Amino acid sequence: MNMKQQPIGIFDSGIGGTSIWKEIHQLLPNENTIYLSDNKNAPYGQKSTQEIVDLSVKNTEFLIDKGAKIIVVACNTATTNAIQYLRNNYNIPFIGIEPAIRPASLKTKTGTVGILATKGTLNSALFEKTTSSLSDEITIIEQVGEGLVELIENGKIYSDEMTSLLKKYIDPMLEKKCDYIVLGCTHYPYLLPQIQEITGPDVQIIDSGEAVAKQVKNILSQQNLINESTAAPSNVFYINKEKAVLENMLKDYNQSKIDYLDF
Ligand code: DGL
Repeated sequence: MNMKQQPIGIFDSGIGGTSIWKEIHQLLPNENTIYLSDNKNAPYGQKSTQEIVDLSVKNTEFLIDKGAKIIVVACNTATTNAIQYLRNNYNIPFIGIEPAIRPASLKTKTGTVGILATKGTLNSALFEKTTSSLSDEITIIEQVGEGLVELIENGKIYSDEMTSLLKKYIDPMLEKKCDYIVLGCTHYPYLLPQIQEITGPDVQIIDSGEAVAKQVKNILSQQNLINESTAAPSNVFYINKEKAVLENMLKDYNQSKIDYLDF
């Protein structure tokens, strides 16, 4: 297999990063992909920076062993805490995902932007650096989405528990007149319809998934790594906990293969 046909490697603490995989697959349908879902260790958002770095190293080495030509850190928590370490230590291109607060801050009319993310992302030095570079006229309302990842991982996207947690997190943002809400965790795009129902149509909800897919395409083009083969692509998902919820998320993608792996 030549380098162009090697897979795009993607990892997340769990199944949330499939929201990024879907964007990548839509933009680059010809590419082979390997997705690693480290559910056994989810959520990363409550862990220390060192623990997040160690898990990100383990995931990266797994994907490199599988022949990845580029690695997408499909997790805001891992990106904001570990991508610098990964870039410094591995000779492979890394694409990360960070909360889209800069674009939101440029578009807001009320001057107040809400962000829902994990504790690990909101406490990271990278997030602090981004927020401190924004105009003084912008107010950022930070909210830790405690419990949301666990409910998604357990297949409880549509549940009373989820509805009440979302209301608890979103209502204060609306009271403070946020007109943009940034989803700073790759699990949260799966909650978009419910969040939009709480906010009503006047609040814009944004995430960085599409931008990440475009960046993957740019880097692959720049490095002459776009897969030009016309063979049907292979999309393999490795998971270290039960497969059922992931299977359900991928039910419209019947060419994908899900393998349980003890890692
Ligand atoms: N999907 C993740 C993120 O984007 C991680 C959530 C977690 O494991 O806490 O931050």
